[in-house]
Amino acid sequence: MTLNYVCTCCGKKTPVTTHEPHCECGGLFELDFKPQPWDASLIDRNEWSIFRYRAFMAMDDDSTWRSVTMGEGMTPIIPFSDDVLFKMDYTMPTLSFKDRGAATLVSHCKAIGVKNCVQDSSGNAGNSVAAYSARAGIGCEIFVPEGTSPKKITMIESHGAKVNVVPGTRDHCADVCRAKVKNDGAFYANHVFNPFFYEGMKAYIYETFEQLGRIPANIVVPVGNGTLFIGVVKALEHLLESGAIEKFPNIIALQSELCDPLYQARLAGSKHAADVTPSPTMAEGIAIGRPMRGDELMDMIYRHDIKMVTAPEDKILEARYEIARRGIYCEHTTAANYAAYKHYCELYGPTPDTLITMCGAGIKSDH
Ligand SMILES: Cc1ncc(COP(=O)(O)O)c(C=O)c1O
Ligand SMILES: [Zn+2]
Repeated sequence: MTLNYVCTCCGKKTPVTTHEPHCECGGLFELDFKPQPWDASLIDRNEWSIFRYRAFMAMDDDSTWRSVTMGEGMTPIIPFSDDVLFKMDYTMPTLSFKDRGAATLVSHCKAIGVKNCVQDSSGNAGNSVAAYSARAGIGCEIFVPEGTSPKKITMIESHGAKVNVVPGTRDHCADVCRAKVKNDGAFYANHVFNPFFYEGMKAYIYETFEQLGRIPANIVVPVGNGTLFIGVVKALEHLLESGAIEKFPNIIALQSELCDPLYQARLAGSKHAADVTPSPTMAEGIAIGRPMRGDELMDMIYRHDIKMVTAPEDKILEARYEIARRGIYCEHTTAANYAAYKHYCELYGPTPDTLITMCGAGIKSDH
């Protein structure tokens, strides 16, 4: 299959073999790809990773992924309370949900002959890209903002990747990395820019559908740059269009109350992420003041009437404690998901049949 990117700004097509991070006009790429209708008989049941759903994913070829996968995805769904199910995403190879996307993105990098890549991240995506790059034999350099959990940095370095700790905010860290891409021509293996990352993230929904035989009524999704969010929306739209599900579930998208550009935009009825000045938050993973795909995210939010809620900062540790006391040790940003869910219940009443991702392991935010 010859795959193309299509520019989200000017519509120009570019073959996915390009090493450029975006269209000539500066617009971000999306894949010119529509998956075939969902059909459970097309799941490769002998493959115990996200690639069992590759019949519905954009793939460069059907061989490269085999030397890159580390069995990511396929995470258990367990009951936490009468109303809440947890998807245990921190049980993945690098202990976070980003492995789904890194597996597809790095497979793509390998398929098109990338030798070295750079990436900026709050820690987890960088950790995933570093690990999968090591597996694929690709050199890797990761930019993280100052204040990133030391454990995340140690993990990234353990894979042989160079780590640059950039003073200032997460957004500034991305600017510094992008300057390097522009000046040195390094391949930008970035979870926000490169659409192959979303192909992996879609499996969150495919797994859930296969595991439960249905989609829960409510799905809580953290949104920083929105990589899981976009994957979830794309996969649900796919299932809906295929007639596999009858209605779109209620998606509850959460941001930190100290960094909430999309929440503010939703409140104001705006199509564009609001200008906010992020304050430091324990939820480091969602501290994105300027989401690059802000317009795309807002479009999805309005298209599906997606609810937005913020995670109260002073409830994050309490949530982490409550979860840990039930045997589950998640990182602070992940506890924010549960804190935001509880806040949602305070605002709108009991919300049964809710799926929440346990997206990062507790060990990652032990300082
Ligand atoms: C634990 C955790 N949760 C949520 C997020 C938010 O993901 P995204 O920026 O793709 O929305 C991240 C991102 O790094 C994260 O590490
Ligand atoms: Zn363009």
